[in-house]
Amino acid sequence: MVRSNHKNSRGLWNTRLGFILAASGSAVGLGNIWKFPYIVGQNGGGAFVLIYILCTIAIGLPIMLAEFTIGRKTSLNPVGAFQSLKSGTHWVKIGYMGVLAGFFILSFYAVVGGWTLAYVVKAFTHTISNFSSPKEAGQFFGSFISNTWEVLVYQALFMGICVGIVLRGIQGGIERACKILMPTLVIILILLMFRALTLPGAMAGVEFYLKPDFSKVGPQTILIALGQAFFSLSLGMGCMLTYGSYLPERENLASATVYVVIFDTMIALLVGMVIFPAVFAMGLQPTEGPSLVFSVLPTVFVSIPFGNLVSIIFFALLAIAAITSGISLLEVVVAYFIDQRKWSRKKAVLITSTIIFSFGVPSGLSFGVLSDVKVFDMTFFDHVDNFASNYLLPLGGMLTAIFVGWIWGTKSAEEEIEKNEAKFRWRNTWGFLIRYITPIAVFLVFCAKFF
Ligand code: TRP
Repeated sequence: MVRSNHKNSRGLWNTRLGFILAASGSAVGLGNIWKFPYIVGQNGGGAFVLIYILCTIAIGLPIMLAEFTIGRKTSLNPVGAFQSLKSGTHWVKIGYMGVLAGFFILSFYAVVGGWTLAYVVKAFTHTISNFSSPKEAGQFFGSFISNTWEVLVYQALFMGICVGIVLRGIQGGIERACKILMPTLVIILILLMFRALTLPGAMAGVEFYLKPDFSKVGPQTILIALGQAFFSLSLGMGCMLTYGSYLPERENLASATVYVVIFDTMIALLVGMVIFPAVFAMGLQPTEGPSLVFSVLPTVFVSIPFGNLVSIIFFALLAIAAITSGISLLEVVVAYFIDQRKWSRKKAVLITSTIIFSFGVPSGLSFGVLSDVKVFDMTFFDHVDNFASNYLLPLGGMLTAIFVGWIWGTKSAEEEIEKNEAKFRWRNTWGFLIRYITPIAVFLVFCAKFF
């Protein structure tokens, strides 16, 4: 009774669909739309896509269910959650690591999120609709991201939008925003896919994307695919745990997990079906790298009918996806201060976002005035990204799996999952995956950073 009152006062998701859309909104972001295509392009296409899907199912899926389960069981932020299950132990540190990772990731995520907002504006003002070659578009992109004030203003704008949404709390803000934004995203992507597929020469891109060529696959490929699955599904830092903490008990956790994973993977696959046909139709290389979306696509848009409209739609979609992920990162940090430090939501949002933005300023400047300030050949941006994404996340994910599989125990977890007679048909498979496969696989990813 006490627990359900506590739940209601923290806020709850209003509807089942609302929760699934919000969790999907967290998962779908720059990871799917900006990173996934260029990583697929660099790692040989179809074969990588297959391995990525495998990693998502065998490793991502069980960890997501584990996070949702801890979250709903405890109704708390990551720190409070581990404390309430095993108080006074070192396991609580997983929670602190998560909050810290959220802080770090959002600080640079807002930089790239700002770029996407800028490109929406530039598409509106026709600034990016006159490129004659990808090289020209690339140069334009390079000079934009080195412009101190422009970058910082858009970075602040991105943070500001996230703040505006998170301030409104669970039902009013996050859930309502995702309910409108996520379906819009799917519709826009499907329209773009039809546009891309009908370009002359598009089929070469489809073939590259869907026809597996395993000669290009090495151990490193598998590790990259696993890391990408992790980042794309928002796992390893208690983000899904926090979203799970706002779940009412009538929800079936196992099936919600399946929906979110399918949705996130579908979006990534759909984005590939937009990008690769377009890239090949333009006679461009899929191995372009991180600049793929920002410097190559505007050139692609120029050459197609209604190109400027398409570019507005595309960058709006990228910005929307980044915002719904950004709010989930902010919510983790905010939930910690609300639950553990008893701050009001307003105080927590305003203070943490200001600190996160300030910490993110050197990241924003890492492509301009600070681009030569390098330690170990990496800029400030690179270091924050590397530390959070390549160290904190895998470590957090692995420890969460071990915690649920061996410390808290799959029995207690299964009890929570099966509450209210919820169906959980893949229960034994999950138990096996979370105890053995998941920790070992993530351990391998983690080790790969050292070799
Ligand atoms: N998954 C988001 C993306 O694909 C990014 C993200 C949001 C994230 N929350 C996270 C990544 C938590 C890791 C952990 O862009």
